[in-house]
Amino acid sequence: MRVLSGIQPTGRFHWGNYFGAIQQYIQLQEENESYYFIANLHALTTVRDQENLRRLTLDAALDLLALGLDPERATLFVQSDVPEVSELTWLLMTGTSMGLLERCHAYKEKKARGLASDAGLFTYPVLMASDILAYDSEVVPVGEDQIQHIEVCRDIAGSFNHLYGETFVLPKAKVLQSTKKVPGTDGEKMSKSYDNTLEIFEPLKAQRKKIMRITTDSRPMEDPKDPDTDHLFQLYSLFADDSQQEEMAAKYRQGGFGYGEVKKNLADLSEEYFQEARQRREEYQKDPERVVEILAEGASRARQQAAAVLRRVQLACGVK
Ligand code: ADP
Ligand code: TRP
Repeated sequence: MRVLSGIQPTGRFHWGNYFGAIQQYIQLQEENESYYFIANLHALTTVRDQENLRRLTLDAALDLLALGLDPERATLFVQSDVPEVSELTWLLMTGTSMGLLERCHAYKEKKARGLASDAGLFTYPVLMASDILAYDSEVVPVGEDQIQHIEVCRDIAGSFNHLYGETFVLPKAKVLQSTKKVPGTDGEKMSKSYDNTLEIFEPLKAQRKKIMRITTDSRPMEDPKDPDTDHLFQLYSLFADDSQQEEMAAKYRQGGFGYGEVKKNLADLSEEYFQEARQRREEYQKDPERVVEILAEGASRARQQAAAVLRRVQLACGVK
């Protein structure tokens, strides 16, 4: 299968991004022909500081490589390095109805809140459709919030095929197994918008401090507690094996322990879990040329594919 997904470089990646998305991208690279890209053009709808965007884009590449994205198996590239996609976006836009885009949630929600939005945010789903269609992608792994955009992509591709004859492969969404939302330090969904994240590669000392400050209830130590409704336990379970989880769950039910003990265990286990990735990140960081090279090779492979699709589309609609 040809698998493709993109991730926006709008902040440092956190545990939610890893367990909700990145971990599965890495697993999918084993048995599929996979394309992963850093969606810096999409990020332009929110990041308006050029230095920051450059830094976040490179950081995203370092993080993905450190976490195990293998450039020998997967094609890793930066979205803006494939200009064919932007051209394809225009060709698709001319056949996309306003109503379809008006129903898309990112734009709709902003409008409902009375906030100013721009044409970039409005047409965001067309750029995303173009990202997908430019590589004849068959499967697109995404979180639940992006399913609507895959449907829009299928609609756009379907209308084009209807108008000009079979041109595009219709992709399928693969919903990531992130039904278990990773909670943040305050118990809400972990998200950079809520300032409750634990970043994968933040300095260990700072991270330990954050872990020790995860909110917990104020029940006395001797009270039994329910592990199934406790966000600290959910975080612990991301890293603990089955027997460690059972042992901890039994302690919760019994009572007579402090949350500090769980936090300390969580800090130790998470440190160990990402230790290899941290080392790999340091190595890549020492060799930024290598990262630039990987991205350039990825872009060159991606461009070849996108150019062939673009040509097919240009011929179909008569601009070539
Ligand atoms: P954020 O909410 O921090 O802005 P994004 O929306 O950029 O994160 O998410 C990038 C990817 O990570 C998406 O596929 C999303 O589904 C996944 N993801 C983000 N936060 C979580 C979470 N708390 N639990 C599970 N998956 C998450
Ligand atoms: N819009 C996606 C997000 O915010 C990122 C993205 C851009 C994407 N283009 C894509 C995901 C194409 C899958 C396929 O998460």
